[in-house]
Amino acid sequence: MKKFSIVIAGGGSTYTPGIIVTLLKHLDQFPIRQIKLYDNDGERQKIIADAVEVIIRERAPEIQFVATTDPEEGFTDVDFVMAQIRVGKYEMRDKDEKIPLKYGVIGQETCGPGGIAYGMRSIGGVLEILDYMEKYSPDAWMLNYSNPASIVAEATRRLRPDSKILHICDMPVAIQNNMAKILGLKSYRDMDVRYFGLNHFGWWTSIKDKKGNDLMPKLKEYVAKNGYLPPNHEDQFEESWKETYRKAKDVYALDPDTLPNTYLKYYFYPDDVVEHSDPTHTRVDEVREGREKKVFGICRKIAEQQSTEGFNLEGSDEHADYIIDLARAIAYNTRERMLVIVENNGAIENFDPTAMVEIPCLIGSDGPERLAMGKIPRFQKGLMEQQVAVEKLVVDAWIEHSYQKLWQALTLSKTVPSARVAKLILDDLMEANAGYWPELH
Ligand code: NAD
Ligand code: G6P
Ligand code: MN
Repeated sequence: MKKFSIVIAGGGSTYTPGIIVTLLKHLDQFPIRQIKLYDNDGERQKIIADAVEVIIRERAPEIQFVATTDPEEGFTDVDFVMAQIRVGKYEMRDKDEKIPLKYGVIGQETCGPGGIAYGMRSIGGVLEILDYMEKYSPDAWMLNYSNPASIVAEATRRLRPDSKILHICDMPVAIQNNMAKILGLKSYRDMDVRYFGLNHFGWWTSIKDKKGNDLMPKLKEYVAKNGYLPPNHEDQFEESWKETYRKAKDVYALDPDTLPNTYLKYYFYPDDVVEHSDPTHTRVDEVREGREKKVFGICRKIAEQQSTEGFNLEGSDEHADYIIDLARAIAYNTRERMLVIVENNGAIENFDPTAMVEIPCLIGSDGPERLAMGKIPRFQKGLMEQQVAVEKLVVDAWIEHSYQKLWQALTLSKTVPSARVAKLILDDLMEANAGYWPELH
């Protein structure tokens, strides 16, 4: 049986240990001969890598392990690149979230002006690692989590149309895991869904169990009252995620025929979100005080004691499960049905064929095969047309170095009240992102 070689790009990510542990748990279904970590910040990556080395030594010493900042070493002889880079790291996420809030506009990692600023940084970083992959391992696939996924996906569609790259998001499967808990099922894998939209901007139209039973009526009844917060599992979520899951109730109210992605709250209720935001302490602060501190703390201790003893690394991790499911589907041509971000190309009949949409596809060794989603309703179509134009304008601005296009993008974003406010935020973001964005004129 073939054994695979994988590089995690953005090896210093908080998500790396989870992916490693999950990979090692499933070696019987997905055998691995080599794992590499690649990052352009060697110091940050080393903290994770020193722990990963111990974990691999304990659980699968036969696997070769390499951690590097050298692109040639990182990308040579790999079958899959699992990408999760954050250009500018949390330091720049901080600016993405706090600058718009100064003007009363939502400050969010991937939505609104913050997401646009992040997109302008991310495009170059993702193209760079994609080019390394194609140079050193031309047959490999890149499975990309790096955000903002829709903007990055539009950029690779345009600038690297023939590349073997698939953009994905863990939000739908995270929500589906909540749905599973609500319904008493085990996981997202127990459902077949129909879903359409853009990344962080979509709707379920059908959710069935594996026997074909319709689960939508029961789910709708629950979501109308409680959002996506499952009963008796409250302690599993951080407070701000609980709030997001609860808010899905109000998001759902806009269209009782579908079930919404939680991210739509930023577009439907930006005023509520801003009102509940603390402009001096945003989500990035929670992440740094929470996930980053915890993951890096555990990694330091594992490296120090040269053992994982005393640490429970077995928690469920849909983020890791999903990207590994995807790699396996490509590796073994399983034709598993999964949500991925692909060029529409007719899958949504009444929508721009060149838009990057999030829809179910059958995944095999040639990549994704779209399932037809038919025609979408006017409400969603209108929202998506506006949002996809924003994303395309950002990519235009990046390619053409155009201030004008970026101003248009911010102005068109449903989260921004006027061209005047858009310009104020843009000028601030541009200054903060000097050296990360192409120089605009
Ligand atoms: P993080 O800052 O902890 O890790 C990102 C790593 O990328 C850092 O170690 C950084 O040094 C590295 N990096 C930055 N630019 C790089 C470059 N040009 N080349 C190589 N490495 C580079 O971030 P995190 O919170 O763990 O998230 C990682 C990424 O995954 C983010 O982009 C985040 O938005 C994304 N993410 C996406 C999804 C999804 O649904 N698509 C889900 C979770 C996380
Ligand atoms: C979900 C989304 C990701 C996003 C993440 C942010 O998983 O799908 O795209 O990056 O949430 O989570 P955080 O804990 O970093 O705020
Ligand atoms: Mn996502």
